[in-house]
Amino acid sequence: MALSANLDEALTQISAEIDAEFDQMLSIPDDTRRPLYEAMRHAAIGGGKRLRPLLVVATAGLFNVEHDTALRVGTAVEAIHVYSLIHDDLPCMDDDALRRGKPTVHKAFGEATAVLAGDSLHALAFEILGSAQSHSDPFIRSELIACLARASGPDGMAGGQMMDLEAEGQQFDLQTITRLQALKTGALIAASVEMGAILGHIPAEGRTHLKGYAQDIGLAFQIADDILDVEGDEALAGKALHKDADAGKGTFVSIMGLERAKEQAEMLVDQAIAHLASYGSEADLLRAVAHYISQRDR
Ligand code: IPE
Ligand code: IPE
Ligand code: MG
Ligand code: MG
Ligand code: MG
Repeated sequence: MALSANLDEALTQISAEIDAEFDQMLSIPDDTRRPLYEAMRHAAIGGGKRLRPLLVVATAGLFNVEHDTALRVGTAVEAIHVYSLIHDDLPCMDDDALRRGKPTVHKAFGEATAVLAGDSLHALAFEILGSAQSHSDPFIRSELIACLARASGPDGMAGGQMMDLEAEGQQFDLQTITRLQALKTGALIAASVEMGAILGHIPAEGRTHLKGYAQDIGLAFQIADDILDVEGDEALAGKALHKDADAGKGTFVSIMGLERAKEQAEMLVDQAIAHLASYGSEADLLRAVAHYISQRDR
């Protein structure tokens, strides 16, 4: 089914569709791998905003890509995101007990299983993208794989997580924090938009505006996460908040203060929307996502 143009409907629809994809891909085997599959399902099904899949599908929608194709690619990005959350919550990283309103995977299944569930979701992402069922064209498949791999590794999310660990107890300057966040959070968000464009057969040089959009919403997204950490509601967010200041972590808020951070997020949203000027109403969903990202309460 094509994605609804209304943001609330689109979020509800994509959440149900991603749940169904993971449910079908992760049926529990009748052997001793059972806890691994249960842990993967615990993390991947029933929770989260599904913002990255929404970005893939909404961007692909600009180019009339078949919805089911975009959905599978969205599931791959979400698999990477969920793996990153499982590992982020481990005692050796943020040591968190609550994620998406449920116990974290290591709390529910133990640390070793949580590590393996993360590893397996990481592998699943590339298995999905490599499958001919996802896309018939091997060139498109390899471009998708390269894009997601780059955004996940040391030059993307994992590199940003390293910088984030190093940020504890240090006062990074704004430029360093911006770089940290662009890698930690921005890279996967940017890859979501870029993969939508790859599915639309848009060559790299034709993706400039979409890249600009993605960069700006990626930064706005992380500023919103940092603001939520200070003044969000834990019940709504479904995770522990007020952790950054306790850890003495340099964030946008610690550097700019709340008010300027909010202004900055709004400015980035306007800038992101300006990048979509060459698109008509077919980009309204991407515009709505940009507003949602900075105004979200979870
Ligand atoms: C949380 O991401 C972790 C960050 C990258 C800041 P989301 O806010 O997208 O988390 P879910 O997927 O909705 O749970
Ligand atoms: C995690 O960032 C980003 C990832 C790459 C998983 P945070 O540590 O700030 O995310 P939350 O606040 O735990 O969701
Ligand atoms: Mg973290
Ligand atoms: Mg964390
Ligand atoms: Mg955070």
